[in-house]
Amino acid sequence: MQRLLKGGTLVDHQGQYHEDLLIEQGRIVRREPHIAITPEMAVIDATGYQVMPGGIDVHTHFNIDVGIGRSCDDFFSGTRAAACGGTTTIVDHMGFGPAGCNLHHQLGRYHTYAEGQAAIDYSFHGVVQHVDDAILDEMASMVEQEGISSFKLYLTYQYKLDDAAVLQALQRLRQVGALTTVHPENDAAIRWRRDAFVQQGNTAPMYHALSRPVACEAEAIARMINLASLADSAPLYIVHLSNALGLDYIRLAQHNGQLVWAETCPQYLLLDEQRYQDPDGMKYILSPPLRGQEEQAALWQGMAEGSIATLATDHCNFSLHQRHMLSGGDFSRCPNGLPGVENRLALLYSHGVSTGRISPEQFVALTSTRPAQLFGLWPQKGNLMPGADADLVLFDPQRRVTLRHDEMHDNGDYSPYEGMVCQGWPIMTLSRGEVVWREGVFTGRAGHGRFLRRKPFNAEWVKTLF
Ligand code: URP
Ligand code: ZN
Ligand code: ZN
Repeated sequence: MQRLLKGGTLVDHQGQYHEDLLIEQGRIVRREPHIAITPEMAVIDATGYQVMPGGIDVHTHFNIDVGIGRSCDDFFSGTRAAACGGTTTIVDHMGFGPAGCNLHHQLGRYHTYAEGQAAIDYSFHGVVQHVDDAILDEMASMVEQEGISSFKLYLTYQYKLDDAAVLQALQRLRQVGALTTVHPENDAAIRWRRDAFVQQGNTAPMYHALSRPVACEAEAIARMINLASLADSAPLYIVHLSNALGLDYIRLAQHNGQLVWAETCPQYLLLDEQRYQDPDGMKYILSPPLRGQEEQAALWQGMAEGSIATLATDHCNFSLHQRHMLSGGDFSRCPNGLPGVENRLALLYSHGVSTGRISPEQFVALTSTRPAQLFGLWPQKGNLMPGADADLVLFDPQRRVTLRHDEMHDNGDYSPYEGMVCQGWPIMTLSRGEVVWREGVFTGRAGHGRFLRRKPFNAEWVKTLF
């Protein structure tokens, strides 16, 4: 069967086009100003809508086991929620495995989590939780045989790496064609501050933010940028950027020609640290924490000028019930992370495109094209050219919707964005040509999503894009 999207405005990262778009066998096969309807075509009337590449969320944590508990979204509910928000691909950050496990251990585990469950296409980032000769040797096969061409290092949490390990990992990952992503926070500074607060009995949610201020994150970003430079100019991707000083360090590195990219998330653009004063402040425990409004303004500026390359969610859903049960009201015992995979596109569209902060083309670049290019999915994903997968989202720029968790599709019990009004709404999502979300109804299925073997990171090619 052929599917024709007729009368819409196609939007990619470079422009807007009044063209029809024809889909066959899950791929885009033609796009022209006027494609004549034939009997074998199922026609979708896209008049008044913007037709964009489906969203690619390169930072989720589905089914993650953080030791004290497991997040409430698995690969079905997480990808269902993603599809209902216009996202057609996710790249999940694998959680830590048992101490000493190798890279393939977690990969095997994650394949079993996702296979037959995912409603949209998916991949994983590798996780480096220790470094030795065996791990360094294993990296090449992860990239070449398994299609895992990015890895995350942590500078805090249980399996944080020290500088020696970071240098070795950065250098080896560069050699094997992988992009290093990093959670940058200074672990010693956080521990020092957190322990003092806890000893004083200051365990309310606000102390979470006070225990890991901007300097903790910015210091670690600067350190990582310098370590990447020392490790034979290894490419570096900073996840969940939340502050202006860190962004300044990133800008300086980019200005100096270093291969450094940054991702931010809707929560850092739209929610601020006052939320920790709410009676349910535990809803907002995540790391880095929510910041002040001046940091939000800097992040919007970074996106508008292009120094921030991507918008992801870091969706890591612990219900309010889980948070209360596990923390007993103590921020230091609360699992970290926020839900949001369903709301990323609507929030950025509403607060970015509808307000004029960014253009529709920048919206596509941040949510789909740059993620595809940085993470080895281009040109199969993130664009509207013939040959690409027919992963699409149709946006109605006129639609106003108030966000209500009751109408969302994750397994949690709250949304941090409850009550926010969105101007512009994803009314339909297609994954490889199949309609998976239409007018408020999830029409996809578990097992439709396929594992994506990603291409190696090609620094010379990526350099030409930015
Ligand atoms: O608090 C957060 N962000 N939790 C998810 C894990 C991570 O650090 O990305
Ligand atoms: Zn992180
Ligand atoms: Zn994360």
